[in-house]
Order: sequence, then structure tokens, then C-alpha cells
Amino acid sequence: MADYDDVFQASVDNPEAFWLKAAESIDWHVAPTRALDASNPPFYRWFPDGELNVCHNALDRHVEGGRGEQAALVYDSPVTGSQRTYTYAQLRDEVAVFAGVLAAQGVGRGDRVVIYMPMVPEAVVAMLACARIGAVHSVVFGGFAPKELAVRIDDAAPTVIVSASCGIEGQRVIAYKPLLDKAIELAEHKPSACVILQRPQAEAEMGPNDIDWATAAADATPADCVPVKATDPLYILYTSGTTGKPKGVVRDSGGHAVALNWSMPSVYAVGPGETIFTASDVGWVVGHSYIVYAPLLVGATSVLYEGKPVGTPDAGQFWRVVQEHKVKSLFTAPTAFRAIKKEDPRGEYAQKYDLSSLEYLFLAGERLDPETLRWAQELLEIPVIDHWWQTETGWPIVANPAGIELLPVKPGSPTVPLPGWDVQVLDAAGRPVEAGTDGAIVVKLPMPPGALPTLWNDDERFVSSYMSAFPGYYLTGDGGRIDAQGYVYVMGRTDDVINVAGHRLSTGGMEEVLASHPDVAECAVIGVADPMKGQIPRGFVVLKSGVERDGDELRAELVQLVREQIGAVASLKDVAVVAALPKTRSGKILRKTMRGIADGLDEPVPGTIENAAVLDDLRPVLRKS
Ligand code: COA
Ligand code: AMP
Repeated sequence: MADYDDVFQASVDNPEAFWLKAAESIDWHVAPTRALDASNPPFYRWFPDGELNVCHNALDRHVEGGRGEQAALVYDSPVTGSQRTYTYAQLRDEVAVFAGVLAAQGVGRGDRVVIYMPMVPEAVVAMLACARIGAVHSVVFGGFAPKELAVRIDDAAPTVIVSASCGIEGQRVIAYKPLLDKAIELAEHKPSACVILQRPQAEAEMGPNDIDWATAAADATPADCVPVKATDPLYILYTSGTTGKPKGVVRDSGGHAVALNWSMPSVYAVGPGETIFTASDVGWVVGHSYIVYAPLLVGATSVLYEGKPVGTPDAGQFWRVVQEHKVKSLFTAPTAFRAIKKEDPRGEYAQKYDLSSLEYLFLAGERLDPETLRWAQELLEIPVIDHWWQTETGWPIVANPAGIELLPVKPGSPTVPLPGWDVQVLDAAGRPVEAGTDGAIVVKLPMPPGALPTLWNDDERFVSSYMSAFPGYYLTGDGGRIDAQGYVYVMGRTDDVINVAGHRLSTGGMEEVLASHPDVAECAVIGVADPMKGQIPRGFVVLKSGVERDGDELRAELVQLVREQIGAVASLKDVAVVAALPKTRSGKILRKTMRGIADGLDEPVPGTIENAAVLDDLRPVLRKS
């Protein structure tokens, strides 16, 4: 087998040949004759003359190829005490029926469908059903509040919304239908219908535009796969930017299928008939790529887990899943391991289960702290692989390519750039820095297949957010360095995006909510280090002059406001009322300085601050975290 250097070099020397070769592992309706269309930079398109259907590649071709009776999806739900296995043939049939349900509601090629669902197999069925008929899905994470859902509904303008009566968070049953109804009320765009999956834990009251999933499925005519252009959108996934308005990351059909299909054996070492357990949520990119599309594209078995790593019923659930479903690769966020470690520091649960099938642990979504890496390595005695990627990229940029060659691990580094990713570090003037020097991490264009071609209905924002800071490069928004051996170190975001328990959130969005409170004159939200969640947001508000409020009551109102407007997932629990915020001479709030002090780092150069005395008052409040 080739080693990493050979494979990487092949992708650099001749990307056209490299990706056309990778494309041969996909079934095409019309096979592409060329890989990259670079005629309109920075809008690069992959496989411009290819046509395919992604659902066919994920399901039908495996049934036709003899995998019909193999497990495609294993639903494992400790919170409901249930499990269900779908073979490839069963999943194809369910998807075809649900595609018929959508088609009967007038959903056709290019139409959008918003999916707002908990971690149930029907969420996967709905996604693949969209792909089957050429519709574009947009899955919204269930932890977002109605207002966030409404913003996404208005941007995507879906024909139909698919949802469920409830989700389950530990012991709590969360009714989804009232949240959905509220979102539709808030949104200007109204879908023509909502298809609702009734769950026994809390049945939803149905309205005139609501259709019961089971009833509709019983009457539906199964729909066939519709070929689409490789460049047609497969999905839109909204992700946090620096403002409250999320970015609609577009994923194309052909490039995405080729890249994910390539990544599964090469990075995650999972091939046909093997099992991957990705403990994330279908609402995030990790869930899209490695719960749904990549495992199914290669004919593997994917575990869909409804629950947390700890709590209901205990901290041994990941190990039980590994044993029961013979998982080869486990993929989650470092925060899940910190949660397990807190409950079970000596790893006693892990010893109760047979983990002999488990060959690799993959961690991503946030920086992997060396202590969590060490704990996981000692507990499992298998390679623990940190890897770095983003919603925008769809698959890892930097990883230890386990399926090609396992490279030595350096704590703090997700290892090396994967084929197709020309990762560089630039200084503020756009000059490459010396090895080992910190700067902005960028990717030289073009990016490989699978990376976002644009933002939904917003080419301008695509260019201004990612392509303008350093022309010819994609701005990742992360800062870090590359060492002399080519290992990449990702140190954290350089913008207002934070990662809370592996969930990407915008502090700017939270500030917009706090600022909307009638008593608040100005505010700042910063991400501070948290031993469990990696980062958590902290808010600081200055009250309008003349306002006199009980501090505790106001803080509770502000925390509740963010919960209502963004969702519980924002995890904003701490808001301090302060006299003033530190600012530059031009009036910009010094959030970076505040973050630095909260994290115990160096203090700022006083000359740059307009109101330096403010920092003296703030220091004890900031250091409290
Ligand atoms: N629907 C409704 N509410 C949700 C939700 C959903 N889908 N997901 C999370 N929430 C709520 C939680 O119940 C919690 O509410 P609370 O403030 O009332 O307790 C809040 O949002 C914050 O959630 P979270 O940050 O996930 O904290 P947690 O304490 O519930 O769980 C972990 C912490 C670490 C166990 C959990 O985040 C985890 O397992 N993360 C790792 C896996 C992962 O999802 N990674 C994502 C990308 S790879
Ligand atoms: P998301 O788009 O939700 O996947 O979040 C992407 C962001 O998460 C990146 O820009 C990084 O800031 C962070 N991230 C993801 N994986 C890693 C990693 N392995 N190491 C450090 N940061 C990471």
C-alpha cells in the first residue's frame, strides 16, 4: 500500500487525475470526463459534466451489489430503551417510500426540505429521501430555538418541513411541535406542509397543514432515484458566523460523494461491512458526513445513537455500543470523553465490556487537550486520532490518515494535511510564516472536492467571509502553525465563533440577543475555557443610564432570553453586569483582551486602550472564571 507522502504528492502533482480516479468508485449516470472546473475563481466546481444520484450510491447500488441483507443503520437509543437495525434493502425501501411522500407534497428536484428532528432513524430516511428525488435538505439541530429555526426557514424557503413530535434529552421529553409551530409563525416564508413523526413519548397535536408520517407513508408510491448534476446542491447546512445570521453552507452532490467515499477507508479505516459509531448529531456536519453519507457510500454499517455519553443510564454506554455492534472506529468530540472521564475517571465501565473490535478512536470538533488524549490512549490502548475540519470543508482538512499510514502522534496536533488540502500559515500581511510561527491558517485554492462551493443564495458573503482576506486562499478562521515536520497545530478561532461542547456557536449572535433587552446599553460575549465543554460563553452587559435593576433578576432574564432566542445549546449561564467595557480609541470593544484576561494570559498594551481604568474594574470579574 502507498504511504501518506506518495498519496499526498499524487494529489498535489495531478489533482485532475487523482480525483478522477477517486470518482471511479462512485456510480455515475453520466461519468465525468474532467475533475475540476476552475474557469470562475474563487467559485470552483468539481466534476462539471458528471451526473449521479447520491441516494443510489448510498443505498440502491449496495442492494444491487449483494449487500441487501447487511445492516446499513443501527439505531441504538438508551433514552427510549430501544434498538432497531435497518438492512440496506430495508433502508432503501423506507427511503423510497418517504421520497414518495415528499413527491406527493410537490417536492421536486432543487426544492428545499427543512428537517428538524431528534436522533431517530427517520431523520436519516428523510435526508436520503431528499437526495433520492434531487431535493435539497437542510437539517436544523434540534437544540436550536424557534427563532433560529425561523431564520433558516426564511433563508432556505422549504416546500415542506419534516419534524417529530418530540426529542429526548436525558430524562426530559422535549416537545418539538410547539417549537416548530412557533418558528413557522415567526418566519415570513410558510411551507406548504409539515410531515410529523409521532413518537410515543409525547404525541403532537396536529394542525391543518400537518401530515402524519405513518399515515402518509402507508399511502405513498415509492419514488425512484432522479439523476442530478454533480454540481447540483445536495444539502444546505447552516453554521454560525460572526453575526446572528447563520451561513448556509452548500454541499454539492458529486464532489461530496467522491470525497466522502475516498475518506472513509483512507482516514477512518472503515470499509464495506465494517462498523463506524459516530457519536454526534445529524444536525451537525459530523453527523451529515460520518453518521449518514460516508458510511453508506462505502457500504459500511453506521450506528445512530440517541443519548449522551453519560447519564441515562450510565457512563458505560459508548462501550456497550462498541461491544454490541462490533464497532471498529468510534468518532466523537473530546468533550464527550471529558464527560465520561469525569463520571468514570478510572475507566471502570470500559473494563466491563469487550472492546476488542475497536481499532481507532477519532476526535474532532474542538481542540483536543493533551490530558484528554492521554486518558483516552491509556484507557483504550488503540490509536487516538485528533483531526481538524469544519462545516465548510465537509471532511477533514488535517488528520492522521489511519487507512493509508498511521503517522506518529504529536499531542496538540491533528497531524498532517490530507490529499487535496494545501494548508498554509500566513501573517497579517499575507506572507507565509516560518515553520513553527503562529498565523492565520488558510488553504490555497482550489480546495478539494467536498468543500463548500458557495453559501446558499449569497455568493457575495462567500467571497467576503472566506476569500477576500487573502486572495487565492480560503480563510479557515482558525489560527495556528505548522512545524518543521509538516504537523499542523490548530490553536483556536480568530473570529467571534466559539466551540461549546463541540457545538459551533456565534458570540456575535448572543450579543445581538443581549443587546435586544430594553435595559441593556451595550454588551460583549466571549468564550472562556471550561474544563468540561472546552469553552463556554460569558456575557458582560452595561445597563442604560438610569436603569436600576436587581442584578440576579436581570441576569436570569438575560440567560432566559438567550435560551429562548438561540436555544439551550448556547449554554450561556453567566452574565455579569459591569460599569463599562474596555474599548480601543476608535470605540471597538476589546473582546480579545477580555478573553486573554479570563484565560489568565498576558495583559494588553495599555496604550491601545481608550478607557484603561475600566480593565482594573473588570479584571476580578473576568478572572472569576
Ligand atoms: N434538543 C434539545 N435540547 C438540546 C439538544 C437537542 N438536540 N442538545 C442539547 N440540548 C440542550 C441540553 O439538554 C442542555 O440543556 P440544559 O442547559 O437545560 O441542561 C443544553 O442544550 C446544552 O447542551 P450540551 O452543551 O450538549 O450540554 P450537556 O450537559 O447536555 O451535554 C456533553 C454535554 C459533553 C455530554 C454533550 O454535549 C456531548 O455528548 N457532546 C459530544 C458529542 C457531540 O454532540 N459533538 C458535536 C459535534 S462532533
Ligand atoms: P464546525 O464547523 O462545527 O465543525 O466547527 C469547526 C471549528 O471547530 C473549527 O474552525 C475549529 O475552530 C474547531 N475544530 C474542529 N476540529 C478541531 C480540532 N481537531 N482541533 C482544534 N479545533 C478544532
